[in-house]
Amino acid sequence: MTDRVDGRLKVTGGAAYAADNRLDRLAYGYIVTSTVARGTIVSMDTAAASKAPGVLAVYTPFEPLKLYRYTKEQNDELTPPLQDANVRYFGQAIGLVVAETFEQARDAAALIQVRYDARTPAASFRDGLASATDPPSGSPVSEVLAPGVGSIDDALHASEVTISATYTASMQNHNAMEPHPTVAAWDGDHVTLYTATQGVVLVVDRIAEALGIDKAKIHVRNPYVGGGFGNKWGIWAHTPLTAAAARAQGRPVKTVLTREQTFTVVGHRPASQQTVSLGARKDGTLTAIKNDGVSSKSASNGFYEPVANLCLSMYASPNIHVSRKVVTLDVPVTTIMRAPQEANGSFALESAMDELAVKLGMDPLELRRRNDSPVVPSSGVPWSSKHLDECYRIGAERFGWSRRNPAPGAVTDGDQLVGLGMATATYGASRAQASIKVRLLADGTAVVSGTGADLGTGQSTVWAILAAEALGIPVGRIRPDLGDSAAPVAANAGGSGSTSTNGPAVQLATDAAKTAMITLAVQDERSPFHGMAAGDVRFEDGRLTAGNLSVPFGSLLTSLDVPGVEATATSPKNGDKAHGFRSFGAHFCEVRVNAWTGEPRVSRWLTVLDAGRIVNEKTAHNQIVGGVVMGIGHALLEETRLEPATGRIANADLASYLVPVNADIPPIDVHFLDYPDTLLSPLGARGIGEFGIVGAAGAVANAVYNATGKRIRDLPITLEKLLT
Ligand code: MOS
Repeated sequence: MTDRVDGRLKVTGGAAYAADNRLDRLAYGYIVTSTVARGTIVSMDTAAASKAPGVLAVYTPFEPLKLYRYTKEQNDELTPPLQDANVRYFGQAIGLVVAETFEQARDAAALIQVRYDARTPAASFRDGLASATDPPSGSPVSEVLAPGVGSIDDALHASEVTISATYTASMQNHNAMEPHPTVAAWDGDHVTLYTATQGVVLVVDRIAEALGIDKAKIHVRNPYVGGGFGNKWGIWAHTPLTAAAARAQGRPVKTVLTREQTFTVVGHRPASQQTVSLGARKDGTLTAIKNDGVSSKSASNGFYEPVANLCLSMYASPNIHVSRKVVTLDVPVTTIMRAPQEANGSFALESAMDELAVKLGMDPLELRRRNDSPVVPSSGVPWSSKHLDECYRIGAERFGWSRRNPAPGAVTDGDQLVGLGMATATYGASRAQASIKVRLLADGTAVVSGTGADLGTGQSTVWAILAAEALGIPVGRIRPDLGDSAAPVAANAGGSGSTSTNGPAVQLATDAAKTAMITLAVQDERSPFHGMAAGDVRFEDGRLTAGNLSVPFGSLLTSLDVPGVEATATSPKNGDKAHGFRSFGAHFCEVRVNAWTGEPRVSRWLTVLDAGRIVNEKTAHNQIVGGVVMGIGHALLEETRLEPATGRIANADLASYLVPVNADIPPIDVHFLDYPDTLLSPLGARGIGEFGIVGAAGAVANAVYNATGKRIRDLPITLEKLLT
């Protein structure tokens, strides 16, 4: 249990986030956004804005900053801002005002008169469902059928028991605490960007393309990030605009999106619909799983959620069919958000499993146990390490699942209807290539550097722990140095892959630095180890030791007058095709619904999970709690409300876009099994950033059903849906 290495800095205000960089002669950018969702800008009258106090420049499609088109999407859009007069969504960046102060830039932006040739946008997911199309990428269908089975519908018809239902979820916005900032400063033809990103190398790629400059001339710094959740993976309009404006103005510029702009200038989670049909034998054995999934997709980019995919990886069934369609809308960019596909996918599948359990008259936990699969259901490849049954068993015991009354509405407490629900949690695991550098310094400390990002996840603490373990010194003597594009290329923060990818590289690099230290010790003539065989010198507990001789590495470096030794190591990507890699666990919750007002409250929560090795239980626990809290928001509160006629987001603020507050959240009990997944890496860690949210909304929906007898298949489960 290690405290966050950056915790003290963060709570004391000592951690400088991107927007905290108050550079000399800093000017301020303010993004101007469109007020129609589709059409062409006819004119922008910037005369008053240009003359307003403090204004340095007003950039528009008619007076643009030249930016080049991107060559590939990074879960964002290919079109850089201001290069044409097309409006593709409401709230699109159509201008940038640069002024001496933020307030001057904002006030001047309000003086700009925009005339549009506007057209009616397609902005209703519901209306578009009837004309959904095949997705722009990926195949429209994936299917496995048992020998002799003609189609998934044949398999369903042949099943002893079937259920079928349609589940929907609204679009969502990430709403990280830190709105998107970029500070850009040029020195000659070199630019330094302080920006919040899930990967500094992603920013380097984009800026190189957008500005047409060499990557070597771009330095991105991103040591602290105030939350990302997928929305700081893409590079949004403010970043290239700020870089280009700073170059044009010859002084540093800072642009920070307003909260309202973080609903439109950046991406969001698509809306989705899934029609799930399950077939089973009377004993609960699944015989068919079918999920027809539809996702909204912005007309501006290619990202959509293949929401039905999770069915390929969850429960054993000889017949599985998933399909993918999209509804293309004139809305802001659709992008990844914590557990893309799976947060929504699990809501539908886990709700459907609960509906099947009701129809079978079977305990929903027992139904899941019977269909637990030791192999990837769609391919038959064995899982590398799966202990889901133990999660179910421990969870049921700790939560008191056996006391659940299966009859809906049977348990009351005063005015409250009390229900229990559960769902399976899961998330895929991966391990990419990563390089890390470790420097051992004469003061007895070590620096671990790589381009990775710590979005608040605890990644920097993980690096410190792993290096400290390998060196045999306290965690406090390690300085993790993340988020610098000059460092070796480590994993970007996304896909729950930071620890599984970077962790093994930290271990390798630390070992390499120890070897470099021993080599120095035996080769340097001034060293007491000089002339010894390297194999006779051990590095343990922070010291080099041979026989009776034992010297801390810092003292040795000092005595040799060497400031430090360093080594860089690259850990390979996972090449094991013979196994499936995925974490599994179980959520259990109690929900109380007010019998008169319909207000649902989550009152108890337990998550038991197997995520491979847990490097630091404290920050890991925090990640799962964060995922569950977001899952409770997904279930009960979060909903981006798009006006169908205008494409305008009606609740683009935190007063009306509801996220859980402390009073909405009960104590969350998290219990980790700790089985290292050694087939994935020597470290054995699988990653936990998205695991906690998957299944959470399903567990809540199932508890709501148990409490009330009402099956709400449309997220969020608001009180008005429970009152009708
Ligand atoms: Mo995450 S949605 O992989 O940033």
